[in-house]
Amino acid sequence: MKIVVIGGTGLIGSKTVERLRQKGHDVIAASPNSGVNTITGEGLAEALEAAEIVLDLANSPSFEDKAVLEFFETSGRNLLAAEKIAGVKHHVALSVVGTERLQESGYFRGKLAQEKRIKASGIPYTIVHSTQFMEFLGGIAQSGTVGQTVRLSRP
Ligand SMILES: NC(=O)c1ccc[n+]([C@@H]2O[C@H](COP(=O)([O-])OP(=O)(O)OC[C@H]3O[C@@H](n4cnc5c(N)ncnc54)[C@H](OP(=O)(O)O)[C@@H]3O)[C@@H](O)[C@H]2O)c1
Repeated sequence: MKIVVIGGTGLIGSKTVERLRQKGHDVIAASPNSGVNTITGEGLAEALEAAEIVLDLANSPSFEDKAVLEFFETSGRNLLAAEKIAGVKHHVALSVVGTERLQESGYFRGKLAQEKRIKASGIPYTIVHSTQFMEFLGGIAQSGTVGQTVRLSRP
């Protein structure tokens, strides 16, 4: 089965591509580094040709509020439109647990916009809500650290 992994060179994308290939699937690791860009549309139609499933594991290069919203809006719009033309049968996206409950966060507003666009697309979909990956722990701790003080959120 041909599967296109958008963001297939990223943290979760590269692990996913490896596992799918081990299972014998024909997998394209699509990202700007491999000539596929969901923002500009570059290489998208070619990558999706004859693909049955698309996994969207792309992430915004910037986590600034406006940039992240624009990324997920534009990337989602271009990707889903290209999937319709290519006749993709199923769209899978990775989101985050609690997306709809933390709308003070610009990142989560971007993820919710991505989810809404997928649900309205008419393409059969699966949205997986994951907690943050272990690799992200250092960054989370760092963002709550000022000097020698580490602030943790209440459980
Ligand atoms: N990290 C977490 O803890 C976590 C938890 C839950 C859900 N998620 C979700 O999982 C997804 C992947 O996260 P990650 O941490 O694996 O991301 P990451 O390591 O930052 O990787 C991002 C990927 O997106 C690609 N990308 C960036 N701009 C693109 C564009 N214009 N067109 C196509 N691909 C583009 C990058 O390609 P290049 O390498 O070519 O730049 C890279 O392959 C995100 O949607 C995120 O919300 C992450």
